[in-house]
Amino acid sequence: MSARHFLSLMDFTPDELLSVIRRGIELKDLRNRGVLFEPLKNRVLGMIFEKSSTRTRLSFEAGMIQLGGQAIFLSPRDTQLGRGEPIGDCAIVMSRMLDAVMIRTFAHSTLTEFAANSRVPVINGLSDDLHPCQLLADMQTFLEHRGAIQGKTVAWIGDGNNMCNSYIEAAIQFDFQLRIACPAEYEPNPEFLAKAGDRVQIFREPKDAVQGAHLVSTDVWTSMGQEEETARRLALFAPYQVTRELLDLAAPDALFMHCLPAHRGEEISLDLLDDPRSVAWDQAENRLHAQKALLEFLVEPAYHHA
Ligand code: CP
Ligand code: NVA
Repeated sequence: MSARHFLSLMDFTPDELLSVIRRGIELKDLRNRGVLFEPLKNRVLGMIFEKSSTRTRLSFEAGMIQLGGQAIFLSPRDTQLGRGEPIGDCAIVMSRMLDAVMIRTFAHSTLTEFAANSRVPVINGLSDDLHPCQLLADMQTFLEHRGAIQGKTVAWIGDGNNMCNSYIEAAIQFDFQLRIACPAEYEPNPEFLAKAGDRVQIFREPKDAVQGAHLVSTDVWTSMGQEEETARRLALFAPYQVTRELLDLAAPDALFMHCLPAHRGEEISLDLLDDPRSVAWDQAENRLHAQKALLEFLVEPAYHHA
């Protein structure tokens, strides 16, 4: 199948990623100025959600409507996907009716299998392995607040999870140093670490990882699908809470990001999202703008009149 997909940041070149992010900033400006821009009129995005979502669903759905198209929400509960229809069959059928498909799922192989059978672009709206759309928003937010991230230092504090893996890929694609502080048991997947080489360093102590960091980022300690591990995770991750005092050890102009939803009192202190260094609300808003740029890049433009 010849369609381009966005299952991982590695599916795009560094230049393509940067141009999507810069375009996100332009589309944000158009929207703020009330300019109507509908290149995807009559185009339809299918959105399969096997896990919960607020930001991903809203940003893709609102984004498609703003670009002149439509989005259809699908869950395994009310499609044949939930009754065992093979993923490849679903991909063949869905991609004959839709112009793009976004999938939030558990196993990353669901995405690769769907994409292998899809005529139209497939977008990863989060898997157990990766969350590349969130990184588009994070990189756009850094660019807006601080300029280029190339050559900067980023600290990831907490779980070596899907977001952490996407930060590792971002370190490769955007050319920054990543310092990860995590418990030994929750290091990121070694395959991702191996790809990054010396761009990524692992620490045990959050205070060591944040030294000199221009961006500090974290995420929940228990991701979707890991709920039965919650008690053990709460105990093990307790020393990894990000606080104002921890941020004081980073670079003087450091920013703080959290992909949200946040658990105040767990991975962040109660007051952290109120700290002037936190840009979490801009980061959440930028899901909309960055993904509109992604959709514009991936989806064929409007039909011609007969
Ligand atoms: N950050 C993020 O993906 O949020 P949702 O789970 O609400 O989509
Ligand atoms: N790591 C989290 C991110 C949620 C946006 C999860 O997978 O649940």
